[in-house]
Amino acid sequence: MKQILLILAAILFSCCSSESEVKAAEPANAGKTLVVYYSYTGNCREIVATLTSQIQADVLEIQPAEKGLRYEANNYALGTQLLNAIKANPDDAGSYPAIDPVTTSLSDYRNVIIVTPLWWSQMAAIMQTYLFLNSSEMAGKHVGLIVSSHSSGISGVVADAKRLLPEATWMGDALWINASNHSKRASLIENWLKTQDFAEEQTTMDKLNITIDGATQSVTLVDNAATKALVEKLQQTPVTVTLNSSGGFEIWGALGFSLPTSNQQTTARPGDVILYNGSNICLFYGSNSWSYTRLGKIDGLSESELRTFLKAGESDISVTLSLPATTDIQNPASSKQGEGDIYSLNGQRVANPSKGLYIKNGKKIVL
Ligand SMILES: Cc1cc2nc3c(=O)[nH]c(=O)nc-3n(C[C@H](O)[C@H](O)[C@H](O)COP(=O)(O)O)c2cc1C
Repeated sequence: MKQILLILAAILFSCCSSESEVKAAEPANAGKTLVVYYSYTGNCREIVATLTSQIQADVLEIQPAEKGLRYEANNYALGTQLLNAIKANPDDAGSYPAIDPVTTSLSDYRNVIIVTPLWWSQMAAIMQTYLFLNSSEMAGKHVGLIVSSHSSGISGVVADAKRLLPEATWMGDALWINASNHSKRASLIENWLKTQDFAEEQTTMDKLNITIDGATQSVTLVDNAATKALVEKLQQTPVTVTLNSSGGFEIWGALGFSLPTSNQQTTARPGDVILYNGSNICLFYGSNSWSYTRLGKIDGLSESELRTFLKAGESDISVTLSLPATTDIQNPASSKQGEGDIYSLNGQRVANPSKGLYIKNGKKIVL
């Protein structure tokens, strides 16, 4: 009896949790890979369960806005009608069946795996809607595709995916799972994953930029708890501090927040970027010995170039710290972006933007 109740509870739970949602992530590289799926009769849902037992990923289920429809009724009449509407006018948003709103931001992910049913040798209409609406945001993502059909081959679905995501970077060939091998999906997925090219973590995080009076120099960071915490801070937003010349060897001032220290007696040299007393940053154009935590070194400037760049001898010097990849987006003024103009997420001005996520007046907007 207890077992029957448990099974009933599980069925109930699976019914009630069928709204579009992001399910809890696994801890280690959570946020890196998103699995997006649609499932009408449950096969793709089973494929996703198997897939996410093998990789760490967040999961997003796409749901049609209109509930209770029977796509297979009358010899699949409704499913066919939805696909024909898309085929007749694939560039018109009105051709695609409405889906429930999705709040998951694709900007959090480098890899996206799409799991979709095949309908009449095409991609199921509901999944097509999601890809159509998110085409711009998927540009440059590493995208994988798993297709579930009863028996038909999947080349039409692959073509749909390429049409809907023209700027995606495909991880490799799509995986086809059908009625005859669905029960062997664990080994099929395991082997398929080995052939897929997942995007690695960004490697630019060992650098930051310092901008003073419109001039920007890169800094190579050392690897310690202070730089990790600083990078985390700068991932949210660039930080601007006011520094003053001191002692004939540095400009320094309060960061406005504290970083973890690992102080040791250090002789700072020209170009060194140093944490002093846990909450002050010092940029050196000369030399000094003190108990410091090293943060990094300004790249490639001679001592005299450092004096010019750091405005040696001056007071109230406005210094902005930012991460290389985010400077143009979060601080558009520094890249001479025009007011009212629309920019892609990587800072390119877009004359005729289509749907998607853009930057306008320094803020993200959705068109
Ligand atoms: C509207 C509709 C059309 C379909 N057309 C085909 C088809 O042409 N060929 C095929 O092999 N399977 C077809 N199928 C079956 C599905 O592709 C297959 O059952 C798949 O595993 C369903 O995934 P799901 O259970 O996640 O919804 C169709 C299913 C539906 C609902």
